[in-house]
Amino acid sequence: MSTEPTESTAPSAQPIAQLRDVLPLTAAASAEGVLSIGGCSVQDLAREFGTPLYIYDEHTIRETCRSYLRDFRGRLPGSRAHYAAKAWLSPALTRILVAEGFGMDVVSSGELHVALAGGMDPEQIGFHGNGKTREELNHALDCGVGRIIVDNDDELALLDELTRTRARTQRIMLRITPGVDARTHAKTTTGLRDSKFGFPLPSGQAEAGLVRALEAPFLDVTGFHIHLGSPLFSVEPYAEGIATIADFAAEMKERHGYEWREFSPGGGMALTYTADRTAPEADRYALQIADAIHTACDSHGLPMPDVHIEPGRSVVGRAGVALYSVVSRKHIPETRDYVTVDGGMADNIRPAMYESQYEAAAAEQMRTAPTRTATIAGKFCESGDVLVRDASLPPLEIGALVAIPASGAYQIAMESNYNLALRPAIVMVRDGHAQLVRRRQTLDDLLALEL
Ligand code: LLP
Repeated sequence: MSTEPTESTAPSAQPIAQLRDVLPLTAAASAEGVLSIGGCSVQDLAREFGTPLYIYDEHTIRETCRSYLRDFRGRLPGSRAHYAAKAWLSPALTRILVAEGFGMDVVSSGELHVALAGGMDPEQIGFHGNGKTREELNHALDCGVGRIIVDNDDELALLDELTRTRARTQRIMLRITPGVDARTHAKTTTGLRDSKFGFPLPSGQAEAGLVRALEAPFLDVTGFHIHLGSPLFSVEPYAEGIATIADFAAEMKERHGYEWREFSPGGGMALTYTADRTAPEADRYALQIADAIHTACDSHGLPMPDVHIEPGRSVVGRAGVALYSVVSRKHIPETRDYVTVDGGMADNIRPAMYESQYEAAAAEQMRTAPTRTATIAGKFCESGDVLVRDASLPPLEIGALVAIPASGAYQIAMESNYNLALRPAIVMVRDGHAQLVRRRQTLDDLLALEL
């Protein structure tokens, strides 16, 4: 099986060539123009599993994991990669991540439960979140998670109490808010002083938190964590964040004799959603992060910490393609053409929530140059339910398949049953085989929790 899209004779006009960077690595088009992923034709997948369908390309996930570990370990030996499970989590994905040597970050008992069900070693799990409940912390301690990333004073006090009761040491990292602007969407920026996440650094609360954590008899503070926001299309904020946190680490060494052993610059590595905005490669992030840490440690005489990165979106985003069927069309003279598909904001809230941009492709006409502009609308009862505005497409018949690439992250993870839509099926494709990893919800499922 070829892992490259099939070459075309007129590449610039053919969607299969134009969308190469947003489609999974194994995407190809048949001579008739039908899109295939992982050697599976999307027509066959739609016939077998129905639409809307989320298709994940195993090869793309594995290749992405490998390049992260290669690029980061090449520059920062001892570094670890923890996949941010919030981007999309399933036992099937977890099994792949385990095989590729990734750990995981979880933010809830639910994510912890699924990660363990998929075979993740608890030692490789970091537990995050600004609102961990007593039950969740007990769950994390019971499972023996490797690290708890402590967010605030109340959590610290609770964890101190719980670990004293157990008389067992728990490794923790302190999440610090460095006061750095990641210049991303306001809803996904997290490094600013006015943030609900982490111990604020400029106000002195980070130092107070560290002192308190060091006094707790059963807490072992391995180091500091920052997460600036996501997605970060520019690598500069990482350097800024690292310089700030290293200054803090140096002060803590001087004032309290504390030395960091571990550091996490968080996640936020970007994803190429549209052909005109390319995300930096993993190695670009590795270079920037490694340079910033080496420079800071050299200038402060600090020991080099082990670095834990936490990419989510960039690990699974490109691997996922959302596949829909056209259900209706509307031509409004001198205004706009709408093409409505059988999914929308219940499976992809991102355009409505963050004005996120995507490409759309007529999945059975990947060799046909677009001739018109149409807006891909979702089927849900809100005007804001628009998936792609003014997409360039060939004419689409009722029942035609529409593919939206770069759909692997934060779509299924943020899905809902709005309008009591049934949650889509998910298939994992590889070498011409498609494995159903989650069945489509049924009407009876909608009643399953009702008493
Ligand atoms: N680490 C921490 C502490 C985080 O809060 C996040 C994301 C990540 C890592 C992973 O970031 P990533 O590499 O996936 O960008 N729902 C939004 C994204 C919210 C991100 C929340 N935290 C979206 O759909 O764009």
